[in-house]
Amino acid sequence: MKTAIVIGVGPERGLGAQLCKRFAAEGLRVIVAGRTKLALETIANDITSSGGQALPIVADATNEADVVAMFDRAGDELDLAIYNAGNNTPGRILEMEAGYFEQSWRVVCFGGFLFGREAVRRMLPNKAGTLLFTGASASLRGKSGYGAFNSAKAGLRILAQAMAKEYASEGIHVGHVVVDGAIAGDKIFKRIPDAAQRENSLVSIEGIVDAFAFLYRQSPRAWSFEVDVRTSQERW
Ligand SMILES: NC(=O)c1ccc[n+]([C@@H]2O[C@H](COP(=O)([O-])OP(=O)(O)OC[C@H]3O[C@@H](n4cnc5c(N)ncnc54)[C@H](OP(=O)(O)O)[C@@H]3O)[C@@H](O)[C@H]2O)c1
Repeated sequence: MKTAIVIGVGPERGLGAQLCKRFAAEGLRVIVAGRTKLALETIANDITSSGGQALPIVADATNEADVVAMFDRAGDELDLAIYNAGNNTPGRILEMEAGYFEQSWRVVCFGGFLFGREAVRRMLPNKAGTLLFTGASASLRGKSGYGAFNSAKAGLRILAQAMAKEYASEGIHVGHVVVDGAIAGDKIFKRIPDAAQRENSLVSIEGIVDAFAFLYRQSPRAWSFEVDVRTSQERW
């Protein structure tokens, strides 16, 4: 059975969880990975009770041993791997501790390198597989108050582009989805209490998941590297 790994899974109304549910519904066995066991088990149980196959695995995306061990459990039919970890890390540069900047880079960018390397190592024997990364507005532009996050997301995007060029001829499709705006999910609803009233200005999770599914389904004769998604209200 074809297998997908999604790392960076949190609440049910979050992008990671909804990616897991979509690809399980499309018939893949899904490894549901992240740091919080309870959240992972909740999503995996939802999938199995709807007739799908899911395996929750606790893994910190910045820990090399965790990432290698997680891929060791994927089996030899790994067909899709999605790097979704990367919580926002706001802060102005002059007040920022060096460790804060470094930790932001570790989660957002370095973890993408570990994950991408292990995914491609497992996909190359089959000469097929799709590796996708979640981007943000930060992937494309620096913004005051977000220097740590912007630089790490931009680094992740360029890493993904390099990998796309390095492994395309060997059958590996690498792609990047730019989510240009706040997502209509738990992260924003918790942080901004009236966000639900402004739903039209928030990016729909289902729409973002559609972009991932589009990249995954593309024929090798018409691959895209990147899809960007934003609401009609976004000024960009
Ligand atoms: N939310 C937005 O408005 C927004 C906008 C644009 C782009 N994005 C991007 O979309 C992705 C996340 O979407 P989301 O905000 O809806 O969150 P989400 O997919 O619901 O959750 C992502 C989860 O990643 C996990 N995570 C964080 N660090 C990790 C690590 N080192 N190892 C493993 N897992 C880790 C966190 O869970 P734990 O804390 O339990 O570990 C978090 O809940 C990120 O790449 C983000 O940059 C988000």
